[in-house]
Amino acid sequence: MKPEVQPNKIVVLSGAGLSAESGLPTFRDANGLWNNFSLEEVATPQGWAANPEAVLAFYNERRLSAYQAAPNAAHQAIAALDAAYDVVIITQNVDGLHERAGSRNVIHLHGQLAWARGTSPLPKRYRIDAAPVSLGQLCEDGTQLRPNVVWFGEDVQHMDEARQHVASAARVLVVGTSLSVFPAASLVKAARGRAQKVINSLAMKRVPFGFTFLPGKATSIVPALVQTWLEQAR
Ligand code: OAD
Repeated sequence: MKPEVQPNKIVVLSGAGLSAESGLPTFRDANGLWNNFSLEEVATPQGWAANPEAVLAFYNERRLSAYQAAPNAAHQAIAALDAAYDVVIITQNVDGLHERAGSRNVIHLHGQLAWARGTSPLPKRYRIDAAPVSLGQLCEDGTQLRPNVVWFGEDVQHMDEARQHVASAARVLVVGTSLSVFPAASLVKAARGRAQKVINSLAMKRVPFGFTFLPGKATSIVPALVQTWLEQAR
C-alpha cells in the first residue's frame, strides 16, 4: 500500500555530482573515477578477493580526499531545508558531506567511507574518519577490515525504507546523479504524481517521467531552489 503524501516532506536523492564542486570526482563524467580505475578491480567482491591491497589503497585515498573536502553551497542549502520541512536525504554518496553541512536525517544507500567493517556476515562497524585501513588489520571477530561501502554485486542498504520516504514526499529533489546504478536509480519511480519533482545535473540522457530538469551546477541551481522552497514554507 502506498503511504500518504506528507505536505511538509522533502526527499533529496543525491549522487556524486553534488560533491563535484567540493573537489571530489564523479564516476562517469570526463575524468570520472570509472574512467581512471577499473570498477571490477576496486568495487566488486571479486576485485577484493583478487587484490585486497589495491582495493584498500583505492578507498584509503578516497577516504582522505573526502575528509579533506568541505561541504559546498548546495550541501549547505539542502541542510537549511531542515529548518522548515521534514527532510530525508537519500544519498548514494559515501563522503559524509551531507552530515558535515548539518543535515540531520541521511540514509546512506552505498555506505560511508568514514566507517570500516569486518568481513564476516554480521560484522562490527568502526568509525575511522580519515584513517587508512591496511591488510592484516582485523575486526574483533578476527576477519579482515574493509571499507563500509557497498560494492557492485552486494545488497544496497535501506531500499525499502528509502522507497517509502520517496513515496510519501510532497517534494522530491534529485541532484548530481546519472541515475545509471540500480536499485538506487529506481527510487525516482516511487515519487508520486502530485509531488513536485525536480532533477538537477549538468546533463541528463533521459529525464525521469514527471520530473522538471534544471541543468547546471548544483551550487547555483540548488541554493536558488531551496530559497524558493523556504519562502513557500512561510
Ligand atoms: P555519476 O558519475 O554516474 O553521475 C554524476 C552526475 O552528476 C551526472 O549526471 C553529472 O551530469 C552530474 N554532475 C557533475 N557535476 C555536477 C555539478 N557540479 N552539479 C550538478 N550535477 C553535476 O555518479 P552517481 O550517479 O552518483 O556506486 O553514481 C552512482 C553510483 O555509481 C555511485 O554511488 C557509485 C558509482 O559506481 C558504487 O560505487 C556502488
